[in-house]
Amino acid sequence: MTSTVHSSQKPERHVVSGVPTIRRPRRIPNLSVVDQIVGVHAIRKDQVGFLYKVIQEYGDIAWVRVLGIKMAMVNHPDFFEHILVRNHENYTKNTFLFRAVEPILRGGLIGNVGGEPWRRQRRIMQPSFHRPQVAGFAENMTDETSRMLRRWDHQYKPGDVVNVSTELGQLAMRIVFRSLFGADIGDRGKSIEDMFLEANQIVGGFFRFPFPPINWPTPGHLRLKKIIRTMDGYVSDVIDSRIDSDEEHHDLLNALLNAVDHDGTGMSPLQLHREVLNLIIGGYETTSNTVSWLMYMVGQHPDVQAKLHAEVDSVLGGRVPGFDDVLKLTYTRQVVDETLRLYTPAWQTMRSSVEEDEICGYRIPAKSDLYLNMFTLHRHRDYWTDPDTFEPDRFLPSEVAKRPRHAYIPFASGPRNCIGKHFALTELVIILAMITQAYRVVIPEKLRDVQVEPLITLHPKGGVHLRMDRR
Ligand code: HEM
Repeated sequence: MTSTVHSSQKPERHVVSGVPTIRRPRRIPNLSVVDQIVGVHAIRKDQVGFLYKVIQEYGDIAWVRVLGIKMAMVNHPDFFEHILVRNHENYTKNTFLFRAVEPILRGGLIGNVGGEPWRRQRRIMQPSFHRPQVAGFAENMTDETSRMLRRWDHQYKPGDVVNVSTELGQLAMRIVFRSLFGADIGDRGKSIEDMFLEANQIVGGFFRFPFPPINWPTPGHLRLKKIIRTMDGYVSDVIDSRIDSDEEHHDLLNALLNAVDHDGTGMSPLQLHREVLNLIIGGYETTSNTVSWLMYMVGQHPDVQAKLHAEVDSVLGGRVPGFDDVLKLTYTRQVVDETLRLYTPAWQTMRSSVEEDEICGYRIPAKSDLYLNMFTLHRHRDYWTDPDTFEPDRFLPSEVAKRPRHAYIPFASGPRNCIGKHFALTELVIILAMITQAYRVVIPEKLRDVQVEPLITLHPKGGVHLRMDRR
């Protein structure tokens, strides 16, 4: 990652001077025809590099039109705040990005277009993600991590290089399946992981070059269909066996089966199916990538690792963390926050304007697609010194207070923020604390720099491979 953001176009601030003035909306720059043509290839080859080029040359807002698809790319905390919070009612997910992932998400919470259908689902599901519920899932996180660490003890010899992405991806998957279904995925984990990666590559490729249409029967699109059928089959099996079971369960599926809205009605079986699949995708894809990046960052920064060791040793003193310890592991949390800044896994999203609007002085016509990229936002030069450098102290409370809130939004913001935010943060802190409690992470000499692979979510290209030395 070499490109960086330099300039920024500050949104216009309208100072009331007492003298009435005619205020004209500011003009949003259009990408030149040459940049649009070059963009078709550039996006396919290096999507992140292309985004930086647009920001550098056009500023924090610009109309980008590539392959006939027009969208306003925004890159300023105030713009994000306007779209996601202040005027969120005017913005839906009826956009090109969510149409691309529609064959997979199909109206589940992540891809739901918005309005009352989304509000109802969110109301029904929200109570399952409150703090006491997440506290109940913390034991799944510590149990599964302990199990993995015990296995490492006899599986790896000193000096072995571990495929951290596969190991921790599997761990994240076991945690989400156990929390959702109380189920052990057993040896299906690896094939589910491979399916997710393949689906992400197919849909990510389509997003960067949307031709031919996703419903055309190309080999890739047919493969995607097969993957979706397999995932659907798995989800149906689990739900059907739960409906037939007399046993009492204390997992998310049980909560969702019994959840009702104000009027006493719950979810239809079809909607339940979609929501379960959305939760698997939301809960696995993002966390598994983050834990890989976390270990990579810790391996690259011995000073940070030393501080982590000191903290886990003093707070935990060798015991397994409980839910209450998560709040005490403050430096561990800073490392998680800084990793989510640099390698924010849900790195891009889109919204569509319902009615005409003005975003901080810029006129946005009705039915405009807006492209919001958290990767570039989190490295914005106006808000982060040396933005490409890993520095957990940026998340000391005194530093956080100096920045606008919307300079950092890995879980988005406003009513459509991530429902699994507390679940994810608890899981990430627990996994990092338990691994650093037991291991010292070392970057093997031959490991190349790990590059980002910007699919629908942000992956470490080729995975992260590290030496894990028992402490
Ligand atoms: C590091 C971990 C995670 C990150 C960075 C993350 C990030 C995000 C972001 C940015 C959004 C908003 C997307 C948009 O507006 O387009 C979102 C939504 C969502 N996430 Fe997460 N997420 C994480 C973990 C989880 C987990 C663990 C779950 C569930 C167990 C989950 C379930 C969802 C769902 C269902 C939504 C849609 C919410 C709605 O629209 O009402 N996520 N997530």
